Amino acid sequence: MSQISVKNSVSWVGKIDWELKKFHGDEYSTHRGSTYNSYLIEEEKTALIDTVWGPFAKEFIENLSRRVDLKRIDYIIANHAESDHSGALPELMARIPETPIYCTGNAVKSLKGHYHKNWNFNIVKTGDRLDLGGKELVFIEAPMLHWPDSMFCYLTHDNILFSNDAFGQHYASEFMFNDLVDQSELMAECIKYYANILTPFSRMVEKKIREVLSFGLPVDMICTSHGIIWRDNPVQIVEQYLKWADDYRENQITILYDTMWNGTRIMAENIAKGIVTGDPAVNVKLCNISKKDKNDIITEIFKSKGIVAGSPTINKGILTAVAGILEEIKGLKFSGKKAAAFGCYGWSGESVKIISESLAKSGFQIVDDGLKVLWNPDAENIERCVDFGKKLAGLMS
Ligand code: FEO
Repeated sequence: MSQISVKNSVSWVGKIDWELKKFHGDEYSTHRGSTYNSYLIEEEKTALIDTVWGPFAKEFIENLSRRVDLKRIDYIIANHAESDHSGALPELMARIPETPIYCTGNAVKSLKGHYHKNWNFNIVKTGDRLDLGGKELVFIEAPMLHWPDSMFCYLTHDNILFSNDAFGQHYASEFMFNDLVDQSELMAECIKYYANILTPFSRMVEKKIREVLSFGLPVDMICTSHGIIWRDNPVQIVEQYLKWADDYRENQITILYDTMWNGTRIMAENIAKGIVTGDPAVNVKLCNISKKDKNDIITEIFKSKGIVAGSPTINKGILTAVAGILEEIKGLKFSGKKAAAFGCYGWSGESVKIISESLAKSGFQIVDDGLKVLWNPDAENIERCVDFGKKLAGLMS
């Protein structure tokens, strides 16, 4: 499928990537593939909004050429310079080198930085308009949603917001519209996308949404750059973003750990038992960090009101899988969440202190000094773990 009618003169001309397993290099798992959404608007003037990732550039140009004489494209809109959306620009611009590209000032820097070309850039700011012959595109800068260059644009009369990465998901589907796909799959990919990509920018997400709402523009559709198009009650994802941006947490505590000889795992399971005993309503989830997908763990942390992180001590430090997730957590700038640490040790026993300090630096409220157990937990220490869990249920309530 290379073209879909979106509304009136607007068509989707992007690429569905069913095979994608990892995105951002190896940083983001895409269990359900992804799409690179590009849109063609054919009014008196023809505008192309975004392109696709570089490996699909030739296929994209071939499909686009079958739809429209490339020389008829009057304007190219680059809502975002990241290569999953700009990757086909070099191929396209080689064919239509004089075509103006409308983008933010920061996008010019990014595009030049990526491709080292001096294309016909036209810098736009919030409120600038581009006349397509009756209908207009209105530009809205959206810096740090999620790059400095990010931008939305809005098509008048058809009331379509082209939001680029915002409100998107890594989700391949031939259905392409939100009302046609499995709703639980869709929302699982939406929250994973928000948790892993947008969490650090939550303050800006809220501010930008409030700004766009203040314009009072009717929004019939939100055409994102990844995943499905929101046409059924598109405001639902905007309202969801406002909730996620507001220190989102559910009644969930996530226990994340790695283990060498199962001692720290036994601690984790008995801490979980204690939490459930202390507060049967809380949803406790256990994640062995070295066995579960990193981005799925981040999503569980995002949903949690508190986390309990554990590692045995090794070489006066912590296991590398735990160190890796702590580094990831640091960059995501979670706020409004509580935490505590635990772990087994044989002689020096630094792990609990290292984890607690890292989580405190990452903005978590450390509610307890943590629990250390020497060697494998015996019956007495298993009881300590259960009691620790009960205590945390209260401290994190
Ligand atoms: Fe989908 Fe920020 O690129």
